Amino acid sequence: MAGVLAVASFAASFLAVSDPAFAQNPGGDATAGEALFAAGGCANCHTDRKNKGPLLGGGAPIKTAFGTFYGPNISSDPEFGIGKWTDADFIRALRRGMSPDGAHYYPAFPYPSFTNLTDTDMKALRAYIMTLPPVAEKSKPHDLAFPYNIRLGMTLWNLLYLDEGPMAPNPSRSAEWNRGRYLAGGLAHCAECHTPRNVFGALDRQRWMAGNAKGKGPEGEAVPNITSHEESGIGKWTIDEIAESLKSGMLPDGDSFGSLMADVVEHGTAKLSDADRHAIAVYIKSIPPLAGRGRK
Ligand code: HEC
Ligand code: HEC
Repeated sequence: MAGVLAVASFAASFLAVSDPAFAQNPGGDATAGEALFAAGGCANCHTDRKNKGPLLGGGAPIKTAFGTFYGPNISSDPEFGIGKWTDADFIRALRRGMSPDGAHYYPAFPYPSFTNLTDTDMKALRAYIMTLPPVAEKSKPHDLAFPYNIRLGMTLWNLLYLDEGPMAPNPSRSAEWNRGRYLAGGLAHCAECHTPRNVFGALDRQRWMAGNAKGKGPEGEAVPNITSHEESGIGKWTIDEIAESLKSGMLPDGDSFGSLMADVVEHGTAKLSDADRHAIAVYIKSIPPLAGRGRK
């Protein structure tokens, strides 16, 4: 079965690549893609906002325990961006963390979350990206320490840790909960910052959303526990308070989000519909309580 699928997907990608007209015409809905693009925070890592770099022309340094990554140019430019890619290339990158030439990506690109998206949403994302201006600028190479600079290692990483999507709905939960889990665990990749990682950089599913201590989160920042734990998590917040914070960036105690979370809201969740923010809040509120790093 797997073999048949592999042959079928190889054939599909071969057909797609051999037809340049197809490559120029994404099959997705670009209008739907705009909100997905915001929720996915694609511009947050692929645009150098601090230096007023062009949209999707390549990002600011992302410092991790393994070295410094640079979000590459993913603009519609055919030479320096992903303008020549097909829908199949794009889906393979987000679903399996694999480039068109078969190399594996590093999980600094949150494909372990994006893998959960449906094909339809992935195609819509690409269609929207293709409507944005091309940027003719070379991507910066990553600056990684040995042995992490050897991409081949990622083949093994994927075998061990990639839980390939799309996400299967949980039939015992409501449609709203499932929508919230899809957004939080897939596109909006809340877990990529709020869940601690093991020594290989994979999310620790036993500590889902339990937060990261200072030095452990992205950019070395501390990231609070957002499980429903009353003391260290956000168990005292109501669903409406969680939804409101994702809209306005205001916390129930009158404070407002700082650091990375301010970007997540401003460029991302603030652009979602009220229904989608409510769905995320319903899902977040249902996460089992774990003691761990709180905000204060
Ligand atoms: C947390 C930072 C981050 C976010 C958010 C992010 N990316 Fe990336 N992305 C990266 C990094 C880093 C790489 C390079 C990975 C590598 O070289 O192995 C990458 C690589 C890619 C690539 C492969 C480009 C190439 O030239 O091979 C694509 C396509 C891509 N990202 C699309 C997206 C889309 C679409 C979104 C939003 C849904 C997104 N990314 C959100 C960090 C991010
Ligand atoms: C890029 C990393 C990142 C992503 C992605 C992210 N967060 Fe956060 N989040 C943070 C950081 C950092 C803070 C602490 C902000 C501060 O200090 O003001 C935070 C704070 C929070 C808080 C406040 C907790 C408290 O006790 O004050 C909530 C709630 C929250 N995030 C929910 C979410 C949800 C829901 C998502 C997904 C839609 C998400 N976050 C995605 C980094 C992130």
